[in-house]
Amino acid sequence: MSCSLRPVGPAQRGRVEAIVAAAGMFRPAEIAMAVELLDEALAGDDDYRFLGAYDGDELIGYACWGPTPGTVGTVDLYWIAVDPRWHGKGVGTQLLGTVEQELRADGCRLLIAETSSRADYDATRAFYERRGYRRAATIPGYYAPGDDLVIYSKDLTDGVLAGTAA
Ligand SMILES: CC(C)(COP(=O)(O)OP(=O)(O)OC[C@H]1O[C@@H](n2cnc3c(N)ncnc32)[C@H](O)[C@@H]1OP(=O)(O)O)[C@@H](O)C(=O)NCCC(=O)NCCS
Repeated sequence: MSCSLRPVGPAQRGRVEAIVAAAGMFRPAEIAMAVELLDEALAGDDDYRFLGAYDGDELIGYACWGPTPGTVGTVDLYWIAVDPRWHGKGVGTQLLGTVEQELRADGCRLLIAETSSRADYDATRAFYERRGYRRAATIPGYYAPGDDLVIYSKDLTDGVLAGTAA
């Protein structure tokens, strides 16, 4: 299945909220944060970038990322979410692959994705792992008792990541 990828605008604010809420795994504060990041981006804040996946005019998924402050070429993937009606159809793969491609073209080196150890995130972790993300660290109990932070990283430099410190 091929969807079209283009920027996310103010008209998609409600769809961003609906897609994140429909995932059924994010706390209300996290859903509010997803919309806040879009508001920041639309207000011109370059720290948050968005790419949307569309079926016609309808936003069916999106990715949000931004440069990690204080680093050289490290980027945080803040969010990737696809409308559950479209799960398993390649939309997430297309979004993530395009973000990675753009970041490589911009000379970025490392992409970081944070997620949870909870069982309802099993498919999410498998999604990252099958796309070349390495489990770099775990912080036990980070989100809540028994809910660990799992940090994934992907080397965007084809193995020359270490490089030379500036
Ligand atoms: C993680 C997520 C973005 C992936 O998006 P997607 O469009 O379903 O991804 P794809 O279709 O490209 O790939 C999903 C994988 O699951 C498999 N799959 C099959 N049926 C599926 C289904 N009904 N639902 C989900 N995945 C399914 C796909 O075959 C594919 O397997 P592969 O890794 O072996 O290729 C999406 O599942 C999602 O929005 N999850 C909830 C939000 C979330 O966890 N976000 C990340 C943390 S911020």
